[in-house]
Amino acid sequence: MEWKVPLFDLHFGAEEKRAVIEVLDSKWISSGSKTAEFERRFAALTGAQYAVAVSNGTAALHLAVLGLDIGPGDEVIVPSLTFAATVNSIYYAGARPVFADITSIEDLTISPQDVARKITDRTKAIMVMHYGGFACAMDEIMEIARQHNLSVIEDAAHAPGATFKGQHLGTIGDVGAFSFFSNKNITTAEGGMVVTNNKKIADQARLLRSHGMTVSSYDRAQGHANRYDIFQVGFNYRLDDIRAALGVVQLDRLGEDLRRRRSLAAIYHQILADLDGITIPFDDKIDISSNYILPVVLNNRCPFNRDEFRELLEAGYGIQTSIHYPAVHKFTPYRALAADLPVTEYVVEHEMTLPLYYSMTEEQVVYVCQAIKDIIAAASMKHTGTEGGALFELKHA
Ligand SMILES: Cc1ncc(COP(=O)(O)O)c(C=O)c1O
Repeated sequence: MEWKVPLFDLHFGAEEKRAVIEVLDSKWISSGSKTAEFERRFAALTGAQYAVAVSNGTAALHLAVLGLDIGPGDEVIVPSLTFAATVNSIYYAGARPVFADITSIEDLTISPQDVARKITDRTKAIMVMHYGGFACAMDEIMEIARQHNLSVIEDAAHAPGATFKGQHLGTIGDVGAFSFFSNKNITTAEGGMVVTNNKKIADQARLLRSHGMTVSSYDRAQGHANRYDIFQVGFNYRLDDIRAALGVVQLDRLGEDLRRRRSLAAIYHQILADLDGITIPFDDKIDISSNYILPVVLNNRCPFNRDEFRELLEAGYGIQTSIHYPAVHKFTPYRALAADLPVTEYVVEHEMTLPLYYSMTEEQVVYVCQAIKDIIAAASMKHTGTEGGALFELKHA
């Protein structure tokens, strides 16, 4: 389908092509000096002491969990309103995910009160997810962790460039994980990063990302060592230099990407703030967020259910939307786990993600907002019997 306003568009240019060709011409295309440069640059961006590049965000989460010695018998408290990979990473390590609810329909991040309620003597860590790049309540989370001697893992897949009280997300807890999947603020097609200030976690991540080998292929090719040992049974979670080269260029673009998204998000918030039927979460946080996505929640005064609303935007206006997320606790592998998550269950049925990306124009944002207003207005006119309010008479702007 030809969208009038797609959900997302890549922010790529000639520099990415050039960077990839340079790596191809160098003839070293797997993990090497570009990967190391990407790691240095990412550590500088976040202020983390260590950044370890890996093949994707899921691998970064898995290594974060393993770096904290989490395993069978342990519990990790995690939101259900997230991408399944957040929770899967706990499962990979043989530990048990324990779901906590989110705070409210204005703040879709994990609720510190519910986290505190879910702690048992088996709890080893809290895994938060900075939804959309909007910071979780990190003061409260860190205080709960301190009181109960728990580790904190931050799923910061959505959060490059996002902060909380001046500190980069992903660096507040013990370890953070980023994703560079194709729709993220920084993309390398597939890619991820572990960030931490803990040398042991960083060393372990470096070891495990490459089969537990003591020496990397790059070092061997450079003549630094001829022999290696396998210290631990690891994985192939390496990033390659082709992708790392994309990441370095994408880091250069991040500043303009964040500024653009913030100004577009501000227009959305301004127009939709007082619209009856729609709640626009995180209203006070757009200036410190990466604004990875623009979520809205259809509240009890909305005349349509979420799927009808999405259909009207799509068919009537050519606007692509999405959902973030289906509840993880409803997926087959997790259904048997206890989950009393009323706010999450409301949001998974009522959240709708609107288009937001660097090359989106102000006019497109206004068009999307106007479409939403028209749909709601037409329904209320129809409801009150006002002439001309028939929904299906709505035309493209
Ligand atoms: C919140 C969250 N966590 C983890 C991931 C996993 O990242 P990846 O797709 O790079 O494995 C994603 C990505 O899509 C995500 O959105």
